[in-house]
Amino acid sequence: MTNTNAPLSAVSWDEGERALRLLDQRALPAEERFILCHTVEEAAQSIEDMTVRGAPAIGIAAAYGVVLAADAGREAVRSALDRLARTRPTAVNLFAALGRMRRRLDIADGPLLVALLEEARSIHREDVEGNRRLGAFGAKLLPDKAVVLTHCNAGAIATGGHGTALGVLRSAREAGKSIKVYADETRPLFQGARLTAWELNRDGFDVTVIAEGMAGALMRRTKIDAVIVGADRIARNGDTANKIGTYGLSVLAAAHGAPFYVAAPWSTFDLSAASGVDIPIEERSEEEMRLLPDGRRVPDDVRVWNPAFDVTPAENIAAIITERGVFRLPYDFA
Ligand code: MRU
Repeated sequence: MTNTNAPLSAVSWDEGERALRLLDQRALPAEERFILCHTVEEAAQSIEDMTVRGAPAIGIAAAYGVVLAADAGREAVRSALDRLARTRPTAVNLFAALGRMRRRLDIADGPLLVALLEEARSIHREDVEGNRRLGAFGAKLLPDKAVVLTHCNAGAIATGGHGTALGVLRSAREAGKSIKVYADETRPLFQGARLTAWELNRDGFDVTVIAEGMAGALMRRTKIDAVIVGADRIARNGDTANKIGTYGLSVLAAAHGAPFYVAAPWSTFDLSAASGVDIPIEERSEEEMRLLPDGRRVPDDVRVWNPAFDVTPAENIAAIITERGVFRLPYDFA
């Protein structure tokens, strides 16, 4: 299949409606529908319920979410910043974006809407530009006819556009390389089976979905040239928080000699966190784990645990691909 589709824009500002426009990622792949958020509360709830998800996309959505308070004045904007900061704790891009919006608020002397919208648009534009740059760095690490395994969705819809892990694959293909992708289904919310499979298939990639429990068997059977994942927060020592299941994949990759790459923009780095121990890990509702895909349930009197992220230790990571270049152990991000 060739790619005849327009680039995806999962997050944008709708000028006519003066609203945040989001691709509803909960409905994919069955339905491609967009929703409009007219209030800060709607924007915050869309981040919490994962209408919009993926670290950079959350940051961009939150930035536009702040703009929704601009007409109500400075105090309302400050409340918006506080509300949006309480949505999801792990992806540091959210806090980086809100920090930029707060600083812009502090120096704005003209109409707030103009200043805040300009800042949100810059955050959005810089994310896409960064992904294109990191994609070009990452593409050089992949051979032609590469077989790649990815986890969760670190694609165009998880970012301002192009994607991080999937951006590397897109850039490799633009450079003339052919890429075969295996996508972990990614329990419990199936970002791999629903979103990565949909996004890559839409772009004409050769993509095969596996349950993450199958990754070991796949690696024994098939040479995996690279495992590439995104990130939600990277500590100063290179420890990386990403979707639950990433750590296990890094251990399997080491056992099978497959290079394990993290692709992430600079907005995902938290240099105030010395190591992974300092990264807050979101725990989501039990219900997400109890409800099985076919509608059956885990028995009500059995406990479930539902951390949304895990931390991959720096030593399991062959390289961290950023728009500033490719970093390897010992990491020095200063
Ligand atoms: O819970 P999610 O779907 O927001 O988690 C997303 C991930 O873990 C992604 O891998 C990460 O945010 C990078 S997206 C470019």
